[in-house]
This record gives sequence, structure tokens and C-alpha cells, in this order.
Amino acid sequence: MTSLLGFGLGLRPVHYPDILDAAQRPRIDWFEAITENYLVPGGRPPANLDRVRRDWPVVLHGVSLSIGGTDPLDLGYLAQVRSLAQRIDPAWISDHLCWTGVDGANLHDLLPLPYREDVLDHVVDRIRRVQDFLGRRLVLENVSSYAAFRESDLTEWEFVSLIAARADCDLLLDVNNVYVSACNHGFDAHEYIAALPPQRIRQIHLAGHSTDGDRLIDTHDAPIVEPVWDLYRHTIERLGAVPTMIERDDHIPALADLIAELDRARRIAARVPVASLAA
Ligand SMILES: [Fe+2]
Repeated sequence: MTSLLGFGLGLRPVHYPDILDAAQRPRIDWFEAITENYLVPGGRPPANLDRVRRDWPVVLHGVSLSIGGTDPLDLGYLAQVRSLAQRIDPAWISDHLCWTGVDGANLHDLLPLPYREDVLDHVVDRIRRVQDFLGRRLVLENVSSYAAFRESDLTEWEFVSLIAARADCDLLLDVNNVYVSACNHGFDAHEYIAALPPQRIRQIHLAGHSTDGDRLIDTHDAPIVEPVWDLYRHTIERLGAVPTMIERDDHIPALADLIAELDRARRIAARVPVASLAA
């Protein structure tokens, strides 16, 4: 797998003029493209992605793999992903450790799984088949959640760590998702981070969230909040310099505002003592 360092942003069409036509290349090390937006060949989206790819490393981030689902794996979708990857050579391909539908219905949400041994076996088998199909390791992201299965007998962090070890896949650690779920379910975010295998963590997501009064909701529509910055600092003190990016999907600000937010992540990482990074 290609290595990639530095600080990236989610590629959003509203920013294309500032990225592609800028007189001076913006201070962004790489972009994360939403896989599903570029699967159909021809037309403007793939052409824009090709232009971005000429100047920056790119990673692909999918939302519809449903790796935890019980419907058969969608081999047509996976063939499209494989051919997109052959064209743009992403540093890696990620999706979410979740399910998104059942009996052919797509619920358009990233839903949590029951954290149990039999579910582990099911998901590990599917990850291995996807990895064989794509010819590369998958990178899977922890999702935020607002409800939990009574049937779970493992913690989420035990489940995520066991998935990585048994499927030989890598992880995308969304620090905001850990914070959101920790608040919603009452677990300790630091305990979650401490339990993860550092060598498996390929990428970090940062994002903002909102609240409905009772719960935190992973809306990606606001700046990153202070407790998530604190958790990010704690995370890289433990994990070292992991490629980090900011996701913003609603109320998308000017590119310069996101670059300023990304620069805060750079400053935090730069202040982490070398001894911590090597530990
Ligand atoms: Fe994320």
C-alpha cells in the first residue's frame, strides 16, 4: 500500500474553482474523494477528479459497501470501484464498518453492528472477499451511533480491533465519531483510542457535529469543537503522525476557512513530542 503523509481535505465540487483554477496551489497535501461520485466513466466528475489527481495524491472513501450487511456483496459496485482505482491509483480505499440496508433496500445511513463473535466472523469473511476482489487491503472507518444492540457482548473498540486483526485490514479512525458515540453511549473516548492497534490506523477523520438536545449527531456541518481537538491531540500523542483530514458535507465554507482549520491540525501534530510519536 502506498504511504501518504500530511493533511488532507474532503474533495467537494463547490471548491473545484479554488483547487483547479487557483493561481497558487492551495496548502493541502492530499484529497479524499467520495467513491460513489466518480464511478460512472465519462462526464465532468471523473474529468475533475483526473485533474485533481494530476497534482495531488488521492484516497477513495466509499459509503455504500455495507460490509456488515447480510445481502450478498455487490460485485457490480466492487467492479466499478476496482476500475476507478486502476485509473486514479488511490493511496488506499476506505469505507465504513457498518451496514446500510437489508433485502435490497438502501437505508442511506451508516448503521452500527451488534458487537458479537458471530458478527465478527460474518464481517471478517466479507472483508477478506472484498480485499481479494480489489487486490488490496481495505481501510474501514468506525461510525458514530445513536443506539446500540442489546445483543452486543463486546465493546465497540474490542470489535473494531478484532476485525482489523482477523481480516488483516486497516482502520480509518474518525475521532469525531468516537467523541459523538462516547457522549451518546456514556463510554470513555480515551479508553476506546487506547485499545486500538496503532499499526493498523492508516488515516484520521476530523469533523464537526450538532445536537438534537438529547444526543450528538454526526452532521459534518460545523467546525470541529474543542473537545474533539483535545481528543485529536491525545490520539496523535498515542499513534504518531497519522494522515489526517477534515470532512465537511453541509454548510460548506470557503476553501480558505477549511485550510485554516486544517492548519490547526498541522500545528497540533507539530507540537507532539518526538518521543511520543516514537512510543
Ligand atoms: Fe468520518
